[in-house]
Amino acid sequence: MDETEKAIRKIKNGVFVITFSLDGINYGLTTAWINRASFKPNMIMASIGRNRKGYNELLDCEIFCVNILGDVSIEIARHFGDTSGNNINNFKDLEFKFMENGSPVLKDSVAAFECKLVKKIDAGDHVVLFGEVLNGTDQEGEGMVFNREDFS
Ligand SMILES: Cc1cc2nc3c(=O)[nH]c(=O)nc-3n(C[C@H](O)[C@H](O)[C@H](O)COP(=O)(O)O)c2cc1C
Repeated sequence: MDETEKAIRKIKNGVFVITFSLDGINYGLTTAWINRASFKPNMIMASIGRNRKGYNELLDCEIFCVNILGDVSIEIARHFGDTSGNNINNFKDLEFKFMENGSPVLKDSVAAFECKLVKKIDAGDHVVLFGEVLNGTDQEGEGMVFNREDFS
């Protein structure tokens, strides 16, 4: 790994699952590259690989939920970060309910907010999506910090 890559990897990120529901199918996508983008209105940005399974459906859906995961939810992060296709319509035995605008929210998230997609910008092999926050729910616990060694 070159020095530039080593330097970039020192950026600290959380671990999130973007969830959404389209045509009766529930999607989940583990993401580390999410941050706040604006106070007024409340906006977040998420960088998504354009070839990810479910990416096109996410654009079609336009409404999604950002679930913030705590340390105890590492297996959930692994599940929705798996490249086998398990992230589509496979919430396993995970408990969830639907938010006001129809996005699934994971019971085990420490907080979650529902967003409306308002803008997207190409960024190399990723696309940065901007979501205006519509509503949020806060539960007990702190968000986990992404640690590469936890994910093979
Ligand atoms: C901890 C972790 C963080 C991830 N962060 C991102 C991310 O920020 N953006 C992204 O596009 N994919 C990210 N991924 C990868 C996707 O979650 C994963 O590729 C996707 O769910 C499965 O789709 P695929 O089979 O098309 O790759 C991450 C995966 C893990 C395990």
